[in-house]
Amino acid sequence: MGKKTKQLLEEAALYKKLKQLWQRGQSDLCEVRGSKIHGRGVYATQDIAAGTKIIEYVGEVIDKEESERRAWAQHAHSQETGDAAVYIFTLTSKHDIDGNVPWNTARLINHSCEPNCEAWIDGRRIFIHSLGEIKEGEELTFDYAFDVDCYEDHPCLCGKASCIGYIVSREQWPQLKEILAAKAAGK
Ligand SMILES: C[S@@+](CC[C@H](N)C(=O)[O-])C[C@H]1O[C@@H](n2cnc3c(N)ncnc32)[C@H](O)[C@@H]1O
Ligand SMILES: [Zn+2]
Repeated sequence: MGKKTKQLLEEAALYKKLKQLWQRGQSDLCEVRGSKIHGRGVYATQDIAAGTKIIEYVGEVIDKEESERRAWAQHAHSQETGDAAVYIFTLTSKHDIDGNVPWNTARLINHSCEPNCEAWIDGRRIFIHSLGEIKEGEELTFDYAFDVDCYEDHPCLCGKASCIGYIVSREQWPQLKEILAAKAAGK
């Protein structure tokens, strides 16, 4: 085989790999559009039944040490720019996924206090599932489950009737309600 042919075959194999990588982060069930909640969001392109695996949350699998380093870097960046986007997802006790890659469509899913999706871990992969029936054109959302300790850094603009005002894990809403009540009472 000539040198040129070998190079062309290598390039074709690389292209195939990149295409597969890109496709893993896409789904026929949703697409990116401008969002009323914030910036860009992900919207259903057709009616989706409850419990459907909609899209994979793809990214780089990293160990906890690297994850902590990147989380601090993201935090420093957000302090400088006001862009508070966090893309690191807990995967296992040893590893996380950094979803900050352009082919990860699911990274653009916004948070809602009444989410219609949930992230499920399946082995070393993360998938976004529908919690109930989703209509074509609805924005996909999930609970970012941020810790109540830094609630003031993340005001919520989901617009739902039950919106608590901050992006905080629903499990910690009782604590948040106490904090907000104490604040309102001037304590
Ligand atoms: C991972 S990004 C989601 C995609 C984002 N809309 C964009 O265009 O890049 C997460 C960021 O989106 C914003 N965001 C997501 N959900 C939100 C909400 N319910 N209210 C206000 N901002 C939200 C916050 O700035 C958050 O840090
Ligand atoms: Zn909200």
